[in-house]
Amino acid sequence: MTKSIVLAAGKGTRMRSIKPKVVQKVLGTEMINLVLAALSKGGVNENTLVVGYKSDEVIEAIDQKISFTAVHQKEQLGTGHAVMMCAKSFENFEGNVLITCGDTPLITSSTYEKLIRYHEENKNDVTVLTTLLDNPYGYGRIIRSDDDNLLKIVEQKDADETEQKTKEVNTGVYIFDSQKLFSKIDLLHSDNAQKEYYLTDMIKVFIENNYKAGAFVTNNSEEVMGINDLVSLQKANKILQREINYTHMSNGVQIIDSDNTYISSGVKIGEGTIIYPGNVIEGNVQIGSNNILMPNNMIVDTVIGNNCQIGPMCYMRNNTQIEDDCRIGNFVEIKNSLIGKNTKSAHLTYIGDSEVGERVNFGCGTITANYDGKNKFKTKIGNDVFIGSNANLIAPLTIDDDVFIAAGTTLSKDIPQGKFVVQKREYEIKKNKK
Ligand code: UD1
Ligand code: MG
Repeated sequence: MTKSIVLAAGKGTRMRSIKPKVVQKVLGTEMINLVLAALSKGGVNENTLVVGYKSDEVIEAIDQKISFTAVHQKEQLGTGHAVMMCAKSFENFEGNVLITCGDTPLITSSTYEKLIRYHEENKNDVTVLTTLLDNPYGYGRIIRSDDDNLLKIVEQKDADETEQKTKEVNTGVYIFDSQKLFSKIDLLHSDNAQKEYYLTDMIKVFIENNYKAGAFVTNNSEEVMGINDLVSLQKANKILQREINYTHMSNGVQIIDSDNTYISSGVKIGEGTIIYPGNVIEGNVQIGSNNILMPNNMIVDTVIGNNCQIGPMCYMRNNTQIEDDCRIGNFVEIKNSLIGKNTKSAHLTYIGDSEVGERVNFGCGTITANYDGKNKFKTKIGNDVFIGSNANLIAPLTIDDDVFIAAGTTLSKDIPQGKFVVQKREYEIKKNKK
């Protein structure tokens, strides 16, 4: 059995942000959630998270579907020190512990799987995941003997000139025999350039104790990128964007310009849907088949059926559901609402906290006024309702089926089925303009 330890206590000083590093988002998903999702898909289901800097914020950000135990590291004295904090939790565990960092969000489930298999097949006591980089600057270097055996890991800041030339780097992912790791971890010391307890020094400790140490080299060097600053964060965005869009295109989604389409991990899109440039699709989103997403929509936590045309320039968010055959046009914002089949809102509309039936027409400029400054209220609209331009629907409000509301009406009373509503507005033509 393999359990994980995910190191997520660091501040991420190099990010120059008030947010803890591991909750920074890569293409709309917090790094820590990408790591935990890959671990879970790779077969690791018991996770221990080492948290420290702004731990509440980190714990709060974790996807509710993922189970984990949090261990606190009050002072961040290095990756080795972070693992020491877990000693008590692993006291009685006899199995493998996979240690990974919360700032390497691109490592795939398949790499985790292969690493676990390699470790088990070779009956290693520790296996470190490594890769070869043309520019290894910043990473710990893998030092091997003349006959290619693993000797130790040397951090960038501690490496001499020859060691710095080494292109094989430590990805920050390891599998240890748990009992052996925790029986020796107190041998770590902080006598190094950063005055930190380096987990990487455990490799040397294992070798000195005649434990079996090995390295599993992945040739996918892009996925192991550690995100330490905003430059690497944007590189990671680009890598993930390419991977995700490639998968959607292979599944029959037509993406007109992949470089300008931002779909976060976990989004589902059906065959035959066409996506124009500038769409940002984040969070818990499912989009059916044969839809057209016109340019520049922001779609968050929304479900869209089939054969809809969305945008350009729509904002959908917060648990919105659009059923089949709808047309939602430019400058329409929909929040926490259900929109029934074949409903149209072609332009300039705000629909919030509403339940809308089928074949409804929203005229240009319609607004559901759902907020009185303190509370939010619901609007219910039946089937076959026609709402003329520039109507204000003041919630709480129910409009029954088959109602016609004339342009410019401000409604604050419920309307029964089949009515025609027009607001009396007297106006005068006083005199000639000139
Ligand atoms: C680390 C490795 C380096 C490797 C690189 C891969 C060490 C000493 N170095 O360096 O060999 O090439 O990752 O990306 O391990 N953390 C804690 N508590 C701490 C310190 C760090 O939880 O006291 C967490 C951080 O939040 C982060 C992870 O550990 O998620 C890695 O820390 P970071 O400072 O980014 O290490 P690197 O310098 O990248
Ligand atoms: Mg790092």
